[in-house]
Amino acid sequence: MNKSIMPVLGIETSCDETSVAIASGEMSILSNVVVSSQRFHKKYAGIVPEIACRHHVENINVVLDKALRQAKVDLSDIKAVSVTQGPGLIGALLVGISMAKAISYCLGIPIIPVNHLHGHLYAALLSAGRVPRFPATGLIVSGGHTSLVEMKDIDNLRLMGQTRDDACGEAFDKAARVLGLGYPGGPSIERLAAKGRPEKIGFTRSYLEEGSMDFSFSGIKTAVLNLVRGADAKSIPAADICREFQDTVFDVIIEKTRRCCLKNRSKSLLAGGGVSANNELRRRLKVLCDREGIDLLVPVRDMSLDNAAMIAGLGSYRYNRKKFGRLDFAAMADMPF
Ligand code: KG4
Ligand code: ZN
Repeated sequence: MNKSIMPVLGIETSCDETSVAIASGEMSILSNVVVSSQRFHKKYAGIVPEIACRHHVENINVVLDKALRQAKVDLSDIKAVSVTQGPGLIGALLVGISMAKAISYCLGIPIIPVNHLHGHLYAALLSAGRVPRFPATGLIVSGGHTSLVEMKDIDNLRLMGQTRDDACGEAFDKAARVLGLGYPGGPSIERLAAKGRPEKIGFTRSYLEEGSMDFSFSGIKTAVLNLVRGADAKSIPAADICREFQDTVFDVIIEKTRRCCLKNRSKSLLAGGGVSANNELRRRLKVLCDREGIDLLVPVRDMSLDNAAMIAGLGSYRYNRKKFGRLDFAAMADMPF
């Protein structure tokens, strides 16, 4: 290994992906290995924490070895270890954190706890390969979260709005379950929605009180349920339901994101989280940013989903600024921004 590089190891185990990555700098990733237990959750139409945890325990050593091999880096060359502290499933987080603490203690290297949601925004920056202009707005749309943040710089974030009930990815998953489309719901709803006719149904868009940057997606979930169970359900093609569901969710996300960008006088918008893999959302974010003269940074598809590259990248950023954590930090299932 080239002795001038300072490899930082990143570990991500907050949900159903066991992932280890190695960054050679703030913007460069040498390896990013992701193993998902998703297929084992399919028959339950949602993540079963116990199953996710068991797979993390089984996979973590293999994934670590593979990430080191792919990066051509020896464990003893690692200069710091960063790890997702939260939010996420508590048992799942503990697997990654225990591994990170063991490596930090045994090698005598710094440990850097990272907020998973912050990692999702860092993924946008890593994919784009450039530092955005600040101030920026960050939009996180995942299975567990829907949040808007003000970014004064890479490591200075302030929460502006979040969901008051379901996350938008969760709404996709629940609507898909009602429509019998399986888990995860996002990709199958996106596929069907592309064939659906617009404005055939007319779900209510929930914008909450004036000026609010919070979200609420529990109403749209119930609306889909009522429609599917209703008397004339058979006459409505599933594609039309998916189209209207997706349009309803994205109308709200785009409008709230616009408000947040204007309020923050944002020069850039960073989006991340599983739902940011959706092509229609990406298209609409681009239209918004082109219209408002904002620079848009979205992750490549694989980096929209959970991965450790974003944790290693952010870890490397903090390592270079000597922002280390303590070995006795605790996992935080509900970690705030
Ligand atoms: O960020 P992520 O991988 O895990 C969490 O941290 O939650 O996000 C997973 C979520 C799931 O709810 C899934 O249905 C959604 O992202 N998702 C999508 C798409 N691909 C994944 N939602 C809409 N369209 C997609 N193409
Ligand atoms: Zn995530």
